[in-house]
Amino acid sequence: METRLLPCDEVRIAVHVHGRGPLCVLLHGYPLDHRMWLDTLRSPLAEQRTLVAIDLRGHGQSPFAGDAVHTMDLLANDVQNAIKTLGDEPADVVGLSMGGYVALALVAAAPELVRSLVLSNTKASADGAAAQQARQAAIDTVVKDGRRAIATAMLPKLLASGADALLQARVLSMIEETATETIVADLRGLAARPDRSDLLARIAVPTLAVVGEHDAITPVADAEFLATHIPGGRMVVVPGAGHLTPMEAPAAFAAAVGGFWAGL
Ligand code: MLT
Repeated sequence: METRLLPCDEVRIAVHVHGRGPLCVLLHGYPLDHRMWLDTLRSPLAEQRTLVAIDLRGHGQSPFAGDAVHTMDLLANDVQNAIKTLGDEPADVVGLSMGGYVALALVAAAPELVRSLVLSNTKASADGAAAQQARQAAIDTVVKDGRRAIATAMLPKLLASGADALLQARVLSMIEETATETIVADLRGLAARPDRSDLLARIAVPTLAVVGEHDAITPVADAEFLATHIPGGRMVVVPGAGHLTPMEAPAAFAAAVGGFWAGL
């Protein structure tokens, strides 16, 4: 795997590249980084595509750029710049949860850069009032009690029950290594994100929604909504997995995406 730091406007975006063939960008969830895709990068998908796991600004090896709010549009603009820097050809875009919100912002802003979409464990709707209050409570928690408190509170919602200890440790350490200012800027951006339901009917690229059977954050009904409202949209439910399907069931995730790409 090769790591590169791409100049994207005023920031540097780290990308982790493995595989061969057409470009595919992998967009991680909140408050994670490219390491959530390590199993995907090592999967047979690398025979079908040049897989590029992006660290969104402030995450992983991409420096925090000082923004008070990471809007989905801001993050999508970085992805747009990264795709252009990597070759200026349309990419197969795979986004999980917040990465899926970013993918939807990208297809709204620059549909010409998107060849296909995999929307994993994500949804089109915005936060309601209760969810926005929960984001503010999470900001208060991380500022007052630190990242460990956020990580331990999130873990049971991210993974299906019975997840093995190593997987739990991988997720906890990723969250704890994410800068506090990044977590706060993400939470503000997530709370402010727009409802994208109206966009779905205008998505003109092949799209697959993937969801874990036990996803507690974006349940199966959210994936059904995406697959039903996007023209030609398809859906795969991965048995036994929770919100982090590519980490919890990497082989099933790779098989779902590989089968989808094979039919493009
Ligand atoms: C994520 O996994 O990216 C987040 O759970 C998304 C969210 O909280 O809406």
